[in-house]
Amino acid sequence: MFPGRSGAGADGGHAPVDLVVRGGTVVEAGWSGPADVFVSAGRVLALAEPGAPAPGAPDEIDATGRLVMPGGVDPHCHVGFTSGDFTSLDDYLQCTTAAVFGGTTTIVDFAIPRPGQAPADAVYAQRAKAEQGLCDSALHACVTEWDDTIPDQLGALVADGVVTVKMFTTYRDETMADEDTILRTMATLRDLGGMVVIHCEANHIIEDTQAHCAADGRIGAADMARTRPELAETASVAEILAIAESQRAPVYFVHQSTAEAVELVAAARRRGLRAYTESVAHHLVLDDAMYDGEHPERFVCCPPLRPRDAVSRLGRHLFTGEITTIGSDHCCYDTAQKQSRSGDVRVMPNGLPGVETRLPVVFSAYVAGMGLPATRFVELTAANPARVNGLYPRKGTLLPGADADIAIWDPTTEWTITSDGLHMATDYTPYEGMRVTGRPETVVVGGRIVVQDGRLTDATPRGRHLPARRLYGPGAPGSLGRSSALST
Ligand code: URP
Ligand code: ZN
Ligand code: ZN
Repeated sequence: MFPGRSGAGADGGHAPVDLVVRGGTVVEAGWSGPADVFVSAGRVLALAEPGAPAPGAPDEIDATGRLVMPGGVDPHCHVGFTSGDFTSLDDYLQCTTAAVFGGTTTIVDFAIPRPGQAPADAVYAQRAKAEQGLCDSALHACVTEWDDTIPDQLGALVADGVVTVKMFTTYRDETMADEDTILRTMATLRDLGGMVVIHCEANHIIEDTQAHCAADGRIGAADMARTRPELAETASVAEILAIAESQRAPVYFVHQSTAEAVELVAAARRRGLRAYTESVAHHLVLDDAMYDGEHPERFVCCPPLRPRDAVSRLGRHLFTGEITTIGSDHCCYDTAQKQSRSGDVRVMPNGLPGVETRLPVVFSAYVAGMGLPATRFVELTAANPARVNGLYPRKGTLLPGADADIAIWDPTTEWTITSDGLHMATDYTPYEGMRVTGRPETVVVGGRIVVQDGRLTDATPRGRHLPARRLYGPGAPGSLGRSSALST
């Protein structure tokens, strides 16, 4: 066994090993190298010298020539999400089935309260669905409006393992929160060891821009990019950083779509704030030329896709270390839903399906295409999402004791993404026809082989709701630090 990389019971030859992944290159956030992964009772037992004998007669997976990575952790995934008049089309089984085909073995969903519903009730309703999943899931709560019950609700939620709270500075009459609510929620969570995760777009700038676009008759899906300007995102990020700094509260920015927004967060981090950036796959891979094509509605998301130059500058921050995580912002609408009000982006459903394509498109564009180290890929897509969500080291690593969620990746195979070949509950993918390099070949969830060679080999839902650990403070494991790379 490698020093420090063997679990209890792995040394005497008597451990009940039930699966061994042999001959691959293990890729963790901080290192990679040849190792065999011993699995026992759903967990990683040891990372062993290649060829080390395994007690008993365990199943074996031949991973020769493959990367053996912790299963992906998607920090931003909407399941059966209702917004305005639309509900996205998947349930937990469908979403997690697509996730595992794409190498993701943990999703973090959102419990967005419906009008009049308490945030805690929204969490308890959504949490009950976790057992329908093929893989495990966690939840972000959501606060839209302050009232005197919020501190107690947040206290109960953190004690119950929901430590992150989504907030929005946009979507008036839906989920938008005012600055007082954001400040108080941040301060409350700071004292509880939790964190606000926030969608930043300055709503006043957006509504004003949209009104001008509408007056010019340019408010349809093809006009999406100009209806939500980059300036709205940077202005809102600056304001929210100021609130967080005034409260010394940690903050995580979801789906940052521009280098300027990322750099504001990085500068705050250098001043000592615990501030983190998430980018999502479509902002890192696709650009606003998609709105000029035959199906502009299929690409309507908030923030919108940006010009190619902005995509390049954003992507550079995967290399600089300034981006903390990569999510999908998965929203499983179909073409009919996207088309039904596509003449007015103010009322059509926002969001793109992507839980299954997040890892392949990012791996292809950045690891295969631009030389991003595979270790950094694992950090961005598995380890850091687990850390900022209080799930590490149970998820996001293959160190002994972690859940045996493993993506065995063929790094060289080339294939073409088509919606027919995917498993999401929709009729399209934003990446239709894209040629990519690398894909998950075998996916193990909790020690069970669930996907092998493109087939579902175990369809039994065994998903669990994952209680998150407090992110910092007395008794917390210290997973939330002041570097974008985070410490263990
Ligand atoms: O366009 C998006 N991103 N829709 C989903 C909701 C959100 O803002 O994350
Ligand atoms: Zn959002
Ligand atoms: Zn989202």
